[in-house]
Amino acid sequence: LARGDLGQDLAGRHVVVSAGGTREPLDPVRFLGNRSSGKQGYALARSAAARGARVTLVSANAALPEPAGVDVVPVGTAVQLREAVLKASADADAVVMAAAVADFRPGTYAAGKIKKKDGQEPAPIALVRNPDILAEIAGERPRPGQVVVGFAAETDDVLANGRAKLERKGCDLLVVNEVGERKTFGSEENEAVVLGADGSETPVPYGPKEALADTVWDLVAERLPENS
Ligand code: CTP
Ligand code: CA
Repeated sequence: LARGDLGQDLAGRHVVVSAGGTREPLDPVRFLGNRSSGKQGYALARSAAARGARVTLVSANAALPEPAGVDVVPVGTAVQLREAVLKASADADAVVMAAAVADFRPGTYAAGKIKKKDGQEPAPIALVRNPDILAEIAGERPRPGQVVVGFAAETDDVLANGRAKLERKGCDLLVVNEVGERKTFGSEENEAVVLGADGSETPVPYGPKEALADTVWDLVAERLPENS
């Protein structure tokens, strides 16, 4: 089927997608980061827009072209991403957390560049926990009937870990990737299983990130309450 044949099943809906990876600064020139490219989140945003949704894309450090017709909110850190996602979620029908959010950030930020000193060992970097944005939104559901989706990359016991994470986070759907050689980071392809809080399991074969995005929106659309 061509895109147009699938229709505008998200028309009249507002969806929020987070994408990319947060960067947690140590000083003005250094950060702790991760390898998320943002491609899966951007594919989700393009797919939702093509299906008629109003899309807010909260984008953390993704060097990708802005999708047409999508409202992009750039952020840097996990704390900034939380602010932007919570704000946009107030009236959202669905929230999809595709961003890789740093679990920890440096406990202190040096206003000036950290310098090495002759004969001195480097100081350890103390970390503090970042807020869990997905668990917070899934717990609060700022809009009734809102569908909340998380992503997880796992290396071992993928399904069991995914099921436990879905329950811990309290979301409706969790897209679980097995991290491997060609998959996930920076690649154009992905393979996943989408777990539902209702016990459902939807395998998505190895293929373009667009195909996974479309499957996610299919599963979200099934769970949305009637358009009001
Ligand atoms: N997530 C989030 N806020 C965080 C960490 C993660 O919203 N501070 C979201 C991610 O965007 C993703 C989901 O939670 O949608 C799962 O992320 P993951 O890192 O797999 O979960 P964690 O609970 O951090 O578990 P782990 O210890 O395995 O990293
Ligand atoms: Ca994590």
